[in-house]
This record gives sequence, C-alpha cells and structure tokens, in this order.
Amino acid sequence: RRLDLSGVWRFRELLDFCPDEHKVTIGEGQTILQQNCAIAEHLGMKPDALHLQYEGLNPSGSFKDNGMTAAFSHAMMVGATSCACASTGNTSASVALYAHSCGLKCTVFIGSGRIAFGKLSQAMDYGAQTIQIAGDFDDCMRQVQAVCTELGLYLLNSLNPFRLEGQKTIMYRIIEALGWEAPDWIVVPGGNLGNSSAFGKAFLELKQLGLIDRVPRLAIVNATGADTLTDLVNNKKLVWNGGNVDQRIIDDYYADLTARHFSPHTCASAIEISRPVNLKKCLRAIDVCDGVVLAVTDEEICDAKALIGKYGLGCEPASAATIAGLKHLLARGTVAKDDRVACVLTGHALKDPNVTVNYHKDRLGEFSNAPIEVPNDLAEIIKLIR
Ligand code: F0G
Repeated sequence: RRLDLSGVWRFRELLDFCPDEHKVTIGEGQTILQQNCAIAEHLGMKPDALHLQYEGLNPSGSFKDNGMTAAFSHAMMVGATSCACASTGNTSASVALYAHSCGLKCTVFIGSGRIAFGKLSQAMDYGAQTIQIAGDFDDCMRQVQAVCTELGLYLLNSLNPFRLEGQKTIMYRIIEALGWEAPDWIVVPGGNLGNSSAFGKAFLELKQLGLIDRVPRLAIVNATGADTLTDLVNNKKLVWNGGNVDQRIIDDYYADLTARHFSPHTCASAIEISRPVNLKKCLRAIDVCDGVVLAVTDEEICDAKALIGKYGLGCEPASAATIAGLKHLLARGTVAKDDRVACVLTGHALKDPNVTVNYHKDRLGEFSNAPIEVPNDLAEIIKLIR
C-alpha cells in the first residue's frame, strides 16, 4: 500500500479527508501527458500544441480508478461493508475491482444491452453481483439510489463527492507535466459530468492556493444523441449564476424528456446519459473555467477514434468525442491553432472492440482498415503483401 506509487495519493495534501491507514490504493493514476504531433498536424494545429492524457492506462482501464481510490478510502473510514453503483460500464468495472480489493460486497446496475462487452466482462470477472435492468442508465441511477437508501449500501456513483476529489488529480498530473502551468484548454467528454465538475473544482482550489496563475478554459463534449448539457447551456441559457441555478429550466426540460419517453442513444455508450447527476456542479465548473459545451455525431466520434488509434495509443468511443469536439472548436476559431490543448482520453481502446471492428469493416472512412480475405495459399499471400 505505497501511497507514493499512486498517481492520486501523491497529491494527498490537495485531497485531505482521510487518515492514511484507511486509504485503499491499487496503483491508480500512473498516467502521463503525451504530446501528439501527428494528430495536431492532422487537425491543422501547431505540432507541439496538442496533448493527450490517456486515462485508459489505469488498473481497470478508465479514469474511474482515480475517483474510486478516494471513494473506497472514505467507505473504509465510515466502516461500509457493501456497496453499489449504476453504470454505463466503466464505473461498474472499477467499483467491482476496488470492492474485491478491500473486501466489500458489491452490486452493479447496468441498462440491459447498453454496455460494451469489455466492461461487462470485467464486472463479472471481478465478482460483482451484476444486475441488468430493462431500461437505460438514468433508470439504473434512479433505482440504485433507492436501493442504497433502503439497504444502507455505500453509493459509488459520481454523486459521491469523494469520487470527485480523486478525479481532481487528473488535472494535477496534466499541469505538473506542463511545469505547473495550465494549458489554454482542457477538453473532456461529458456524461454524468463528474469529471468536468471535478476539474473545475481542482482549478478553483489551485488558483485560491496560489499554485497556478490562471485557470484553463474547459470544453465539454456530448454526443448528439445524449446532449442534455449542450441543450440546456446553449439553447436554454442555463447558467451557474453564483449558485442560483434556475431549477425551473431543468425541471421543465426533464418533464419534456419524460413526456416524449426520450431515451438517449449513441455508439459512445459510456456517455449515453440524459439526466446527468452532476449538472449543477458542472455549471459551476463552466463558470470557473469560462467553459464551452458542444455535441458531436456518432460518425464524428468514430472517425476521431480511428485517428487516435492510427496516431496515438487509441481509446474508447466516448473518449474520442474530445478530438471530434476539438475539430469543431478549431473550425469556429474558438480554439486557436497554437493554443495549448489537453484532451482527456477517459477509457482504454480495448473496452469496446465492437465499435472499432464495425468501423473498419463496414465503412469506407478515411481511416478504415478492413482485414483482407485471401485464400490459404502462399503464392496468393505473397502477391498480396508485395
Ligand atoms: N468517458 C468514459 C470512458 C466514461 O466511462 C464516462 C462515464 C465518461 C467519459 C463521462 O464521464 O460521467 O464524468 O461526465 N461513465 C460512467 C459509467 C457514467 O457508468 O461508467 P462523466
């Protein structure tokens, strides 16, 4: 249990809520900021301007582990014995892993058919009780909150404020890599809006502590099939307003979703969420970081994912929304070609192989790279390779 080997707890003075003896760590947060000249040039940016923070390199393959190490430490502090979460997949994988690491019983709620197989296989392998509900993530979220209240289970969704404390460290690692200087932009996918909320809090605190001079701007990218935040901010003009968020706008919006029996849909299943639980905290982050929000199509996400695969370490579809969104922001001139940008690639390339294989197999996209069928014949194979 080496705290200095955790990319979260080596910043423990900045998330100071837990005595060391309760801390749960499995070596999360050993991730680094990587400059990517090839993608920068492809996007028409200055070659040294673009950086990728690949959080897929965490123990369970996503950024969630940054939050779980903190939340499970708190669970140990308060003597929890069993825990639960709703999930589009990565939360369940991470919860299941940390739960067996510290001996907690664990139940995860999944929307039936709405999870990538890499993630589902992790929850099962790590021994979580896995409950599939005939509904979407938002249904699961509602049910798990009721179950946790009724049965006294420890809730591990990003409603849990200790999750967000751990996720702040993703930003610490980025600015550490840049010499304790903020980049011009942080770009992050938006689902339940835990990351964006945590990032805003991180920068507010660093500024207050005098550890940085200025905060970066924040760009939050939805999928068009799950774009509640984009709609509320850009069209309904929902703002933080010093903490006086206009609740009527939100209530009317959700009432309309219910009336239309709306269910979100995107190939980026990780962010297939229409009632983000951290909406208000995210509005605060947008206020702190002069943020922008936008939505990108599934096609744009898949193209961006293939680009990241071709020139970087790859990522899962939701993570690629960052590069797809950045393309729009560059085209609009919101982001300048020489602005220093850090995109957070939230999940590992192997989480959702179906989307990847289908893209390459079925499409003639710019980066489509379908396998070639050849007869089982040496001469034919040699002819083809030549
Ligand atoms: N990227 C990935 C890979 C995710 O798994 C998630 C969320 C997000 C982005 C969105 O992050 O919620 O902080 O805005 N996945 C959750 C889950 C909802 O259940 O695994 P957010």
